Amino acid sequence: MTTPPPLDPHPAALAGRFPTDFSWGFAASAYQIEGAVTEDGRGVSIWDTFARRPGAIADGSTGDIACDHYHRYADDVRLMAQLGARAYRFSVSWPRILPGGTGTPNQPGLDFYGRLVDALLEAGIRPMLNLFHWDLPQALQDRGGFADPQVVGWFSDYAAVLASSLGDRVKDWMTFNEPAVFAYLGHADGEHAPGVRDWPTAIRVADHALRAHAAAGTAIRARVDGARVGIAFDVNQVAPATGSELDRLGAEHWSAARDAWFLDPLFGRGYPALGLEVHRAAGHLDGVELDDPPAGQLDYLGLNYYRRDSVHALSDRPFDWRIGAVAGSEQTQMDWHVAPDGLRDTLVDLHRTYAPPELIVTENGAAYPDTIEADGRVRDTHRQHYLERHLEAVADALEAGVPVTGYHVWSLLDNYEWSLGYTRRFGLVHVDFDSQRRTPKDSARWYQRLIARE
Ligand code: FCB
Repeated sequence: MTTPPPLDPHPAALAGRFPTDFSWGFAASAYQIEGAVTEDGRGVSIWDTFARRPGAIADGSTGDIACDHYHRYADDVRLMAQLGARAYRFSVSWPRILPGGTGTPNQPGLDFYGRLVDALLEAGIRPMLNLFHWDLPQALQDRGGFADPQVVGWFSDYAAVLASSLGDRVKDWMTFNEPAVFAYLGHADGEHAPGVRDWPTAIRVADHALRAHAAAGTAIRARVDGARVGIAFDVNQVAPATGSELDRLGAEHWSAARDAWFLDPLFGRGYPALGLEVHRAAGHLDGVELDDPPAGQLDYLGLNYYRRDSVHALSDRPFDWRIGAVAGSEQTQMDWHVAPDGLRDTLVDLHRTYAPPELIVTENGAAYPDTIEADGRVRDTHRQHYLERHLEAVADALEAGVPVTGYHVWSLLDNYEWSLGYTRRFGLVHVDFDSQRRTPKDSARWYQRLIARE
């Protein structure tokens, strides 16, 4: 790993490139931090099941305890307040609210999120509630899950329960986190829960998620005065691995079959013609009947951005390609290619192509092998440098006229990184998973000074 240049310990100049009311925050998700998976009537989620599958998780771990945030949420909110956060994007565990997926809500589950929201508001932190960060109730998976069209109704009923319970205090709503990861990694690659490997199923799941997004938006708006509804989509920069014509075509096809596959319908344009061609040629639409989903009304588009993905075509057949970092590029511990200019370009492209009323960077961050040193500090200079350069890129996009209103670091705490278990640390705060001790890393202090404009 190369050593980055020394950082400016006083990030006031960078902060000065952002408006004073910019929404600085953190993002997290329920299964990755909460733990307490059998407490207070919570039902089983597909991640509880998947994590127990032999070989599914790199270190064989589960989210059973994770950061124990369910019990320590008040301390974690206090920590965010000390760091100066103005917003917090968290997700709700559907099986805590509806253990069987539908039916009568579980009051202790609703009460937990009520307490969390109250603590945030008292600390001056604006809550952004994400309804779905991949932990579907297992009971619904057993009835077909997102591959069954009934999920549109299940999901909007779940949204309605939360909107009625928290809508007096929560105004920023998000329907889905990264539906493409859930659909493709969960149902085509099988690397995520529910671990299905079938492309036509993944295409159905994607279609139903888009419909569920629109239906949930309607359910929320009907119940919450002043609701702002959005979705978070992961758009990493896609580029050909080499100058070859095959790689160029591969990159174009991958973007059409993945990013535009979701974003075009989301903005009322229906499925993209090139995406249809590519999926059809790969056999992904076999036996699938597709109508264009309705566009939901979006108040903002959330962008989760981490890296540049290079597409290396192995033949001229669609989906016969390798996607990842190019050799020799600067990479994080995830083997992700660090490309801050890609964040600027992606923000500009999304603004030009789709023009959502607002863009919020709803995730950005990096995993590095952090250690607590003898003096108790975590000198995560690489992470600081990663954040600094990505924020310069956001500032560039702002100056180019893109309406970016917020930025959420992934994440406050080191946490359960899905199929990689506890082997990757993304937090600005180090977590000792044996003692649950939280230690702010140098990057946390840096972020605090940035928000405070020191
Ligand atoms: C995103 C996920 C988030 C976390 C980060 C590293 O794709 O939304 O839960 O795993 O990647």
